[in-house]
Amino acid sequence: TRNLLGIKDITESDIQLILETAANFKEVINRPIKKVPSLRDITIANIFFENSTRTRLSFELAEKRLSADVVNFSSSNSSVKKGETLVDTVNNILSMKVDMVVMRHASPGAPHFLSRNVKANIVNAGDGTHEHPTQALLDAFSMREKVGDLAGKKIAIIGDILHSRVALSNIFCLKKLGAEVMVCGPITLLPKYISSLGVKVELDVRKALEWCDVANVLRIQLERQQIKYFPSLREYSLYYGINKKMLNSLNKEIVLMHPGPINRGVELSSDAADSAQSIILEQVENGVAVRMAVLYLLAGAKA
Ligand code: CP
Repeated sequence: TRNLLGIKDITESDIQLILETAANFKEVINRPIKKVPSLRDITIANIFFENSTRTRLSFELAEKRLSADVVNFSSSNSSVKKGETLVDTVNNILSMKVDMVVMRHASPGAPHFLSRNVKANIVNAGDGTHEHPTQALLDAFSMREKVGDLAGKKIAIIGDILHSRVALSNIFCLKKLGAEVMVCGPITLLPKYISSLGVKVELDVRKALEWCDVANVLRIQLERQQIKYFPSLREYSLYYGINKKMLNSLNKEIVLMHPGPINRGVELSSDAADSAQSIILEQVENGVAVRMAVLYLLAGAKA
């Protein structure tokens, strides 16, 4: 395939190949000389129409570790502000001999639209509430490091499932790898179709924590809420906030994850986020190796 648009479109063996390749790259980037020449002569444009810290820097570092040439585009200070269309913007960037495009956009399906209208390898770095495939891959990679093969493992995704691309990509990825998946959150933040994805649904956060081996905790995405949802941040933290005391009261030590950015004191207290069972910064570390694997494998399938 020439693109990575979503986890829904790829197979279990594609996922296994990406995770195995990422394990090799993780070894490479832990050596004193972190760089390999794999993508020399490939030029990659990171085009971001929405804010990002982790994904954007992680892709840029992955590209540089692979010796690609890199250009970064941010819509907020670009000619998009003068009315240029998405396809015109990207075709102009591609005219400068760019081979691959990594794209984040607020509109679900924007990278799919682009892939039908331009000639380049496209990697989805998050499209609105739809998918965030490389986040799901780095989450799966990080889970496997902690609990081994994910087949039969119990993973709870806790938070604002309705507005989360991380939740959807995680569900597709974890189900393909054979994990048991539960979503947990206020009923107002669970999509109506959620049970049709083959996941368990739990409204009580304590029960979700008692059930799972790994909890992947998400934030409330106020920026995507068109109407005023229940609960407010204060109400969410009261009923769904996870703290170290709760984690300590469980009869086993679960692995705690969060894709970032954290709203400290809302979905996670600082004593939970910064505890020894939290692997939040390991997820970020693994993101570079996973993105190297994705770019390396896609570069072998030129547009
Ligand atoms: N996890 C994640 O996508 O973070 P950013 O929005 O900072 O890229």
